[in-house]
Amino acid sequence: MRNVLRIDASPRQSRSLSRALGDTFIEALARQGKARIVRRDLASTELRFIDEEWIAAAFTPEAERTAGQHSALALSDTLIDELASAEVLVIATPMYNYGMPAALKAWVDQVVRIGKTFTFDLVRGDFPLEPVLTGKTLVLLTSRGEFGFEPGGIRQGQDHLVPQFATIAKYLGAGRLEHVGIEYQEFGGQRHEVSVRSAHEHARALAARLARGQSEGLVPTRHLHPSKNGAANTASRPL
Ligand SMILES: Cc1cc2nc3c(=O)[nH]c(=O)nc-3n(C[C@H](O)[C@H](O)[C@H](O)COP(=O)(O)O)c2cc1C
Repeated sequence: MRNVLRIDASPRQSRSLSRALGDTFIEALARQGKARIVRRDLASTELRFIDEEWIAAAFTPEAERTAGQHSALALSDTLIDELASAEVLVIATPMYNYGMPAALKAWVDQVVRIGKTFTFDLVRGDFPLEPVLTGKTLVLLTSRGEFGFEPGGIRQGQDHLVPQFATIAKYLGAGRLEHVGIEYQEFGGQRHEVSVRSAHEHARALAARLARGQSEGLVPTRHLHPSKNGAANTASRPL
């Protein structure tokens, strides 16, 4: 049994390209007959931004927390439990202002928590943070209005969505990142159609590969297929 946590970040429902890509990936994975899927839709989750009470609660040892502090961390506890149970974390998200939407950042801030998903110890020198969760695969499914974010592309260096997840994936317990992205949404036309079609094909292939990888224990080396003329933007990398 492969436990999968699917996070949807788009506020759009039926018209969302990232949700549709998520559907394709999850349906393909389910066809392999091995997936137990838990879904967390951020559009219908009352997410709270980190505030002073939350920080104080997180830094207070669990046994010493007040009832108010426990309740400040209740949503974080629930979201972390969902994450901890998953072997595959699927995040379907738009690019907003060249990064992740605020709702998704709020989710990240709720789950990356001291003493729960990472520990901090200065005896480790210049890298005092260490993840608690390990062994997961992060499947990042994106939709972007623009294009050309890949190395050599016309917007190289302007993508703060995929690179941010590459940096923080380890604190989500992921040692491997798989990315499939749709581009050109704001331009429409043939380039966009090709991008959508190609992304869905890559998502199906990725689901089949991950299902196989479970029994074979595969960790593929880095493959990069930059977008050219609307082909899907995909990357696979161990972190
Ligand atoms: C508030 C907002 C900000 C956006 N910012 C960007 C951006 O910085 N770069 C980009 O390529 N597309 C941007 N887009 C376009 C979305 O990424 C695109 O419409 C995507 O398909 C939305 O995902 P969805 O279809 O799953 O809702 C933005 C869209 C909105 C509504």
